[in-house]
Amino acid sequence: MPATIVIGAQWGDEGKGRVADWLAAEADVVARYAGGDNAGHTVVVGEKIFKLHLIPSGVLHEHVVCVLGNGMVVNPVNLLREMDQIASMGVEITPERFMISSRAHLITPAHVALDSASEKALGNQAIGTTLRGIGPAYMDKTGRKGIRAGQMLNIEEFADALYARIEEANVTLARQGGVNVDPKTVTTDYIEAAERLRPYIKDTTVYLNERLKQGARVLCEGAQGTLLDIDHGDYPFVTSSSPTSGGALTGLGIGPRYIDRVMGVTKCFSTRVGGGPMPTELQGELGNRLRGTGENHWDEFGTTTGRPRRCGWLDAVVLRYAAAVNGFTDLFLTKLDVLSGFDELKIAVAYHIGAKRYEFPPVTLSELEHVEVEYITLPGWHEDITKIKDVGNLPEATCAYVQKIAELCDTPVTAISVGPERDQLIFF
Ligand code: IMP
Repeated sequence: MPATIVIGAQWGDEGKGRVADWLAAEADVVARYAGGDNAGHTVVVGEKIFKLHLIPSGVLHEHVVCVLGNGMVVNPVNLLREMDQIASMGVEITPERFMISSRAHLITPAHVALDSASEKALGNQAIGTTLRGIGPAYMDKTGRKGIRAGQMLNIEEFADALYARIEEANVTLARQGGVNVDPKTVTTDYIEAAERLRPYIKDTTVYLNERLKQGARVLCEGAQGTLLDIDHGDYPFVTSSSPTSGGALTGLGIGPRYIDRVMGVTKCFSTRVGGGPMPTELQGELGNRLRGTGENHWDEFGTTTGRPRRCGWLDAVVLRYAAAVNGFTDLFLTKLDVLSGFDELKIAVAYHIGAKRYEFPPVTLSELEHVEVEYITLPGWHEDITKIKDVGNLPEATCAYVQKIAELCDTPVTAISVGPERDQLIFF
């Protein structure tokens, strides 16, 4: 370090939380830079399973200061619920080790209601959002009428601004057939939240730059994934922020000269939740096998919404693109243990539309929906790899699979995970 960015290379849910938890052990500060409580990061520490939505995974390391950056949209009521929940699990959060950017935007119940109304109106064209109000909150931000966390420091002004915004949103909700929100109740709830959150609200841009100048190691923790990026993802089936490496800089207010590592995190197969193209999606038995039954917390069901994830073979077209967009220095491959037991494994290496071969995803949805996938087939392995600690003890086929991914993306794989526990990691 000084600064490392951890980014999802696919459609989110790549296991970034556990990677960030591992890297946080060596960091002084862990900062989230985009999105809100649409994210769901699971970190397993012994018997305890932490499901984090807003608070960075670094919070589980006592020495780490956690930051919610200016690029985020924060629902204060849900944040307090999460803070209380992890406090009840023995993780103390104080203003010395947790900060919210005064420039971060707030999500209100009106944003949540607008998210639902908009999804309903889209019918079978719905994005499949997490219904956390993310899109409407970013729309208010870019429309220059959002409310920022810093406004909570002046309760009277904050209450007036909030009340007015809720009333205005109710007009839109009525037009869209959505459910109106009571501005009085919201204002009361949010004033209560503001009173509790005030000590945590800071100019985190200044804080981060000062710490970086002093040589502190900062981990920028991405949420969602590259293919959900508002610019670089499968628009419009994307989230409303920039989870990619550029987003880390604008979402924290730091310059590129501090970044010396951009780690891409990818599952060793593909998953996606919500609508949108997924060329390697598998239906039937193979897809169900990758998904798991839902009995285990690591099975492929959304941490935030509980929805079953769509599953498919690894897509190197997507990974190659993510490596380019983010400038990955290295890759972390998660969930290798899930592939044990397959006779053979496929990886998508290119797409075809008619006579044209694509090594990067085509831009438009109609093209993406009509691609034919070119696969390579590699031998699988049957050994249980969950207890292996060294590369040398991995089955040859596992190593070959990992090396092939590195080769296809022209990016070294430096670590893999073979189970959900903190120590189920192998370094290459
Ligand atoms: P939104 O971010 O709630 O607006 O949802 C937009 C799209 O991003 C939907 O397809 C969601 O399923 C997807 N999405 C948002 N956050 C995550 C995440 O943390 N993991 C996986 N998918 C996500």
